[in-house]
Amino acid sequence: MSRHLITSALPYINGVKHLGNLVGSMLPADVYARHMRLRGHEVLFICATDEHGTPAELAAAAAGLSVADYCAEQHEIQADLSRRFGLSFDHFGRSSSPQNAELTGHFAEQLRANGMVDERVTDQVYSLDDERFLPDRYIIGTCPHCGYERANGDQCENCARLLEPSDLINPRSAVSGSTRLEVRATRHLFIRQSLMADRIREWIDSHTDWPILVTSIARNWLNVGLEDRSITRDLKWGIPVGWPGFEGKVFYVWFDAPIEYIGATKEWADLDPETRDYRSWWFNATDVRYTQFLGKDNIPFHTINFPITIMGSVEPWKLVDYIKGFNYLTYYGGKFSTSQQRGVFMDAAIELLPADYWRYALLASAPESDDTEFTWESFALTVNKDLAGIFGNFVQRTLKLTEKLFGMTVPDGGEPGPEEAELAASLDGALATYAAEMDAMRFRPAAFALRSLWTLGNQYLDRCAPWHEKDMARVACILRTAINVARIEAIVSAPFVPFGCDRLAATLGLDDGERSWPGPASDELRRLGPGRSIQAGDPLFPRIGDRSTLTAWVAEMEQRFGGPS
Ligand code: 2FM
Ligand code: ZN
Repeated sequence: MSRHLITSALPYINGVKHLGNLVGSMLPADVYARHMRLRGHEVLFICATDEHGTPAELAAAAAGLSVADYCAEQHEIQADLSRRFGLSFDHFGRSSSPQNAELTGHFAEQLRANGMVDERVTDQVYSLDDERFLPDRYIIGTCPHCGYERANGDQCENCARLLEPSDLINPRSAVSGSTRLEVRATRHLFIRQSLMADRIREWIDSHTDWPILVTSIARNWLNVGLEDRSITRDLKWGIPVGWPGFEGKVFYVWFDAPIEYIGATKEWADLDPETRDYRSWWFNATDVRYTQFLGKDNIPFHTINFPITIMGSVEPWKLVDYIKGFNYLTYYGGKFSTSQQRGVFMDAAIELLPADYWRYALLASAPESDDTEFTWESFALTVNKDLAGIFGNFVQRTLKLTEKLFGMTVPDGGEPGPEEAELAASLDGALATYAAEMDAMRFRPAAFALRSLWTLGNQYLDRCAPWHEKDMARVACILRTAINVARIEAIVSAPFVPFGCDRLAATLGLDDGERSWPGPASDELRRLGPGRSIQAGDPLFPRIGDRSTLTAWVAEMEQRFGGPS
């Protein structure tokens, strides 16, 4: 048994996340955490809401709430959705926690003590009416190149040219529309990243097993050259810097957000200080393997910026051991968009269909080696073919026939023969393949391997055809074996489809001790012995529509959530 620290990128607080966010970090992290627990490892799975930054402030203002109230409300909404999707975080924290404030302050102090931080004065736009500095994105005006009237201070979305706020004609505040803007000098802390470039490169080069997606994005950034980066902002909402001369300033959201991985672990430990020690996971934690899950836009922050914070502290905080990065899930080839109501968000998804459907179908085409596209049609086909048609169907056939012929007990009679030996050998092979893919966090191949394993149950029934068999002892043996296959499937499929597997485990009357990772299949196929009672269950995974209504269902979904453009 080893110790595994697993984190998912922290979802921004400003609104419910879409399916792309889910499949790009939280969901695969959960499947891996569940798998590692199932294999008997000690796992700590941490996530949190990322609550600072201007977007949170603006979303709160739009909702007519204080930022603190807005964040508290949204945190609960996201926590509730996480539960409903079966995301098995050991702790779902908040980057606005006192623990994170304390740790963020500590890292800043360490960086300063080690000469990694200096102070610089920069010019920034100040809005007299809003009484605040405005980040570039919150200054709008007319583009000097194309005349577009709503160009942002950093880029014109009409002609895509990069801009400086001073380029804009008739600049105004995006917060209030006020034109009373002026440039003011303001002091900020800069982290001297350039000092660490060689160490970071060496560290990345030492991880030869990391996905190419991750190392290539990290190396691109290093090749462009690391610039010193400001880690403070003139905002009210955030973690106060608290140093003389920095009154009214807070740390930049991307400085404190990754520290919240540690902060959230401390939040978790503080809930039960007698038995939990956050430092055993983070400080001098040489026995811990730390894996991060994140989308490709987050790669630079996790391969460069956060490691610089850790290394620059010159304290033995844990650096990540493996980074699993994901490409994007697109919605019919385009972006998921809240403002344009395009795509599926977690709240609508879970109202529509069970969590298991989303979990399995999304991971079966996870954007691992490329961006992948969500379409309603392929989603429904995956659910109907794999979950309903293979796994659910096998369980249903087995239990229905058992009930009809033997009542709801594991049937007695017969001894396993060559068919069962062949099945056991195939199961052993399929389980080994599946486990290897899961250990390697290759989720698409893992889903494929799992489906192959499910198929073995159906093939066994088809081959043995108990419905044609005259010898009732033989029928009993076949159905008893099939019930035991269902038990194996209920155990090993749980990381992907935990809710269905819990129902199946209840149907089979399994207690927790009977749900650990299977040993050799020839033994496991005898585990549930004759006479044991089982219960009839509803179909595990009802189909989405039937053949005649599926097209209409897809059309309805495209109408509601957007379709091919
Ligand atoms: O891109 C995002 O959604 C960020 N909120 C991820 C933060 S991950 C971590 F560093 F906090
Ligand atoms: Zn323009």
